[in-house]
Amino acid sequence: MGLIEQQVAAELAEWPGFKALGLTADKIFQNLARPPKDDMGDLAFATFKVAKERGIAPPQLALELVAGRDTAGISKRLRKIDTGPDLPAARANLVVTVGTAGPYVNIQLNRAGVAALVLAAIEQQSAGAEPKDWRYGDSEAGRGKTLVIDLSSPNIAKPLAVHHLRSTMIGYSIKKLRESQGWRVVGVNHLGDWGTGFGKLIAGLKKYFPEVEQRAKAGDDKPLGDMSVQTLNETYARFNSESKDNEALAEAGRNEFAVLEQHIEALVKGERTQAGEVNFRIWQHTREISLAEFERMYAHLGLSFHLWPVVDHAHKQVLTSEPEAFYRAHCLYIGESYYVAAEDLCRRIIADSVAGHVAEESEGAIVIYTHGKDKPPLMLVKNDGATSYHVRDLAAAIYRHRHWQANELAYVVGGEQKWHFEQLFKALELLEHTWANGCRHIDFGLMLFQQADGKWAKSSTRRGTAIMLEDLLDEAIKSVREIMTAKNPELAATPEGERVAHAVGVGAVVFNDLKAGRRNNVKFDWDAVLDFEGESGPYMLYQYVRMGSVMQTFANRYGKQEPGAQATGAAIAEVANQAETGDAALLTLDEEWRILKLLADFPDAVAKASDEYEPSVVAQHLIKLAGATSTWWTATKDTRIVGDDKALSLARVRLVNAIRRTLGKGLTLLGMTLVDRM
Ligand code: ARG
Repeated sequence: MGLIEQQVAAELAEWPGFKALGLTADKIFQNLARPPKDDMGDLAFATFKVAKERGIAPPQLALELVAGRDTAGISKRLRKIDTGPDLPAARANLVVTVGTAGPYVNIQLNRAGVAALVLAAIEQQSAGAEPKDWRYGDSEAGRGKTLVIDLSSPNIAKPLAVHHLRSTMIGYSIKKLRESQGWRVVGVNHLGDWGTGFGKLIAGLKKYFPEVEQRAKAGDDKPLGDMSVQTLNETYARFNSESKDNEALAEAGRNEFAVLEQHIEALVKGERTQAGEVNFRIWQHTREISLAEFERMYAHLGLSFHLWPVVDHAHKQVLTSEPEAFYRAHCLYIGESYYVAAEDLCRRIIADSVAGHVAEESEGAIVIYTHGKDKPPLMLVKNDGATSYHVRDLAAAIYRHRHWQANELAYVVGGEQKWHFEQLFKALELLEHTWANGCRHIDFGLMLFQQADGKWAKSSTRRGTAIMLEDLLDEAIKSVREIMTAKNPELAATPEGERVAHAVGVGAVVFNDLKAGRRNNVKFDWDAVLDFEGESGPYMLYQYVRMGSVMQTFANRYGKQEPGAQATGAAIAEVANQAETGDAALLTLDEEWRILKLLADFPDAVAKASDEYEPSVVAQHLIKLAGATSTWWTATKDTRIVGDDKALSLARVRLVNAIRRTLGKGLTLLGMTLVDRM
């Protein structure tokens, strides 16, 4: 509830009945509601709360509020209604009539006034031809506040599987949503680059690829040659299964990690261990190979990550001179290893927890009983002396809070890790970090695929049904390319066509991922994902493109353009400027009214999505907007959007422009890339 409600509240505050009861605009605003059915009026003032405060029966209060209303005044005001763009929209009166229905004061709105208000707001806040300048839906609510958001966070030496898409895109969208509300958002990729698993990997590499060890020993800092992530993954899996019932191998794996961890901890003190050099080189190269592969995927998805701490000069400069711009443009890679190495954080936390009697020894390990003795404790140090996933997360949280003075720390991680985060946050509390109450686990459901037997299941490495993210995206792009080749061969054959196929293909997968509440499991059904007519990414982009081409049609018919010219950004921008002179009062269709209300509610949807870490709120709003637009299309079949009546066409194109910018803004907030043609 925003734009419309605010003005209505201000107007009602001037009405005799409301004034007599001393109801301020704020108070009125808080009690405005949307009636469930259209024929009940456009808005309603619910009297319950005020009636209770004043000790009056609600229906009685409703009558008092509307009694003595200045009808002469209303009609005078009605005459002053803004019907064109030259009057500032804020001066239009929105309330046309009021009546009561039991405890409610029902309010009928002046549609032309609402239309002028909403359209002017969008035009003012989305001036500029480029989507990056579209600010409708933005707010300053979070100014001065910082959110550090943990997103994507895959493990190295493993390919990116489809489930990583969820953490990446939900996280990325939340980042954009929060930024739109004025927050500084630091995106952190908590790379899983540390842990006993890497001991097994190194042991496996040494066992099955002796040349790797030889090269590392000889000082080669690319000891793995051109080994792929896939091979690294298989090597780990092979060693892991062989060591399951072979204690000697298992021991070797643990040793390799101990050597590596001692080495990196020595590095902090400026020392080196001879034995650790080799493992360190192998590990570093593993990390490099994995990052190179991850990079490809992030580029596909439109994300940029930068290694932390930033060392290269150019980026460092941006970071110091324009931190906001830096954090907007890049997320950070901060691997788990960083917290073991940098500042020796992990060991300090362990020491402090023991000294403060928060942690205790148990069977050779050091643990914290976060939830009482009958629940499994949080492990800080394993019985072989290695740091744990949990202690690295404690270190990361403390680091993030300290380094960025974060108001909130959010973790976009699957629901399987619920208990991990419950324990983590509780441990922070036990360690007397009062800011622990600003930590949130942003959990999400699984991505499900249909199996041969027709059942839906998650993709699983164990069952050999793992689906690689890259394959999925490639497949989506390929399918879109095929559809385009059939429908728009001319475009498909050009480099622009390739960019479009990419944006639409990736957008299809992303929208499918974000459109339902994040806690729901997502069924990945190719037909629905790529359906150009369903509630899909391609359909949303198609509606966006369509708005642009109507504007082009207008230019061709009424502008100075060559007939038949293609929709281009510049031409559309020119029509947009012209469209602002359209007369909002001509938008009298119910379908138009519905669209206007959806446009008016867009900023609230964005604010809600941001507050609730729920991109689907925006996605669902866009689905409604696209749907309402499509219904409008059908309803204007006879007169057309751009038809013989120039004034009407201009008014409608004004609405089209507003839809286009709102839709475009929303899709961008979901992390999608816009296209002008498809
Ligand atoms: N690397 C972990 C995994 O793949 C996810 C890490 C999530 N972030 C965190 N701070 N624990 O399961």
